[in-house]
Amino acid sequence: MIYLVGDTHGTFDLDKVLDFFEIEVLLRDVSKEDYLIILGDVGVCWDGGEKDAWVLKKLRELPVTVLWLDGNHENFDLLREYPVTEWNGGKVQRIAPDVIHLMRGYVYYIEGKLFWVFGGGMSVDKIWRREGISWWKEEMPSYEEYDRGLDNLQKAEFQVDYILTHTAPRKVAEQLVDVMLPGEEALQYYLQDVAERTSFAGWYFGHWHMDKVVDEKFYGLMEEIVRLLEQ
Ligand SMILES: [Fe+2]
Ligand SMILES: [Fe+2]
Repeated sequence: MIYLVGDTHGTFDLDKVLDFFEIEVLLRDVSKEDYLIILGDVGVCWDGGEKDAWVLKKLRELPVTVLWLDGNHENFDLLREYPVTEWNGGKVQRIAPDVIHLMRGYVYYIEGKLFWVFGGGMSVDKIWRREGISWWKEEMPSYEEYDRGLDNLQKAEFQVDYILTHTAPRKVAEQLVDVMLPGEEALQYYLQDVAERTSFAGWYFGHWHMDKVVDEKFYGLMEEIVRLLEQ
């Protein structure tokens, strides 16, 4: 089983996950063979100290293996320190054996389905943040990552089962808010291009902090935890 949820922001928005699995283990046979995918802003690499240790402990105590993509609220200096290894067709960084970072632009084969993953996003509050302390420019993808994403999609002949991103394609984002703040255009238009060129059954994203389905196959997640195969 694959579960999905939106941003968890350290322990700040993690209770929804803890509460969900408290019930879920009573209803289903859930194990570390199952996955919870967090769609960015996880904050398990944040202060490099006690706070991170606590978030990691909570994630590891979940009955499932955690897969996560990066959002804009991650410490990219810390994340860079983790070795990059191969996993299920793409590259990953293992924060722990059961807490695995899915990297931008790779295609992964998980439970018989193909997933194209592309994290990153812009912090709308970055003017109140400090570079290297609470904000990192790597929150937005590099040219290398954009190229890698398209190369790997091309190798998959632009056919995957699911797409997982932190932010949303431009035309989806435009349906989420009345006023679009500037700064994330490059990423949103890139994802829009991907959406138009790729065949997929469902696209899941976080970042916008709302549970909303757009155009029937774009799923914005925040509070809700969904089971992938029931969609
Ligand atoms: Fe967030
Ligand atoms: Fe975000």
